[in-house]
Amino acid sequence: MSTAARTDSMLKEGTFEGKTVLITGGGTGLGRSMGRYLLELGGNLVICGRRGEVVEKTAAELEQETGGHVLAQACDVRDPQQVEALIESAYERFGRVDGLVNNAAGNFICPTERLSYNAFNVVVDIVLKGTYNCTLAMGKRWIADQTPGAMLSITTTYAWTGSGYVVPSAVAKAGVLILTRSLAVEWGKYGIRLNSIAPGPFPTEGAWSRLMPPQLADQFAPEKRIPLKRFGEHQELSILAGDLLADYAAYVTGEVVTIDGGEWLRGAGEFSDLEVVTPEQWDQLQAVMKPKKSDKPQA
Ligand code: COA
Repeated sequence: MSTAARTDSMLKEGTFEGKTVLITGGGTGLGRSMGRYLLELGGNLVICGRRGEVVEKTAAELEQETGGHVLAQACDVRDPQQVEALIESAYERFGRVDGLVNNAAGNFICPTERLSYNAFNVVVDIVLKGTYNCTLAMGKRWIADQTPGAMLSITTTYAWTGSGYVVPSAVAKAGVLILTRSLAVEWGKYGIRLNSIAPGPFPTEGAWSRLMPPQLADQFAPEKRIPLKRFGEHQELSILAGDLLADYAAYVTGEVVTIDGGEWLRGAGEFSDLEVVTPEQWDQLQAVMKPKKSDKPQA
């Protein structure tokens, strides 16, 4: 596959024309990349983050780069009142909201026994509580207005395997996945779809450098243990997000789509570490282990 395929758009121009999508944590990182893609496809965008000046700067830049319309508002997703105020502003500005992306998250690597109770709370509050605050506020509005909508939550591959050293995040993301699946069933009758994306490593300036500081990245070389031998590119995730939010995926709900270059399956496979065996070593091993035709009993 060429690099172009990873940077181009997959969806038709104008896919989100006349539609509005709200992305939490849309001021930076993957949230920003997804927002840019939706703007390029003709959508209106609402982004929020805890720091107003960050989302406002991003909104101005994205408007300039894409010619689209962006509303930026400071909002701490942990606070339901701020979430409701954000949704109100989105309706005032654009008259409608068609999609919600629960992207805002918090995470840090730490041995669990070193965490304070508050450290655990902070991550769970942002990731799980933040997601259900936004999901509930948006869902109530859509149900009351009898309008359909699509929600997408960014979870992670360790939502189903668990992972050491990021335990508050693992617990919270598992909750997000179950919220997605539960409400996909309960709210299907209202025309509301809920899906998740489970990304593997997609480097960003903020979160990724905190989760994989250079000292550790040198030691673990995470990209080497990914079957596809590279990190994800933001546009690859944006394309998937756009697809799941768009009407093209109108029959997809309650799904979690993994985009990790095969990382989590490789970790689960009992014999995956045999990758380090060289072709010469295989020759030697097979010379000893593989039965010769002449050794087999004749029929
Ligand atoms: N290791 C252990 N404990 C930590 C920690 C770390 N790396 N970072 C923070 N904590 C603890 C603090 O000590 C504090 O606990 P205490 O009050 O008992 O001392 C608690 O966590 C809250 O820390 P604080 O800095 O006040 O929280 P915050 O709300 O300002 O920020 C995050 C918490 C996670 C949101 C912050 O680290 C952050 O902004 N991260 C960047 C965004 C991010 O991680 N995105 C990830 C996407 S996956």
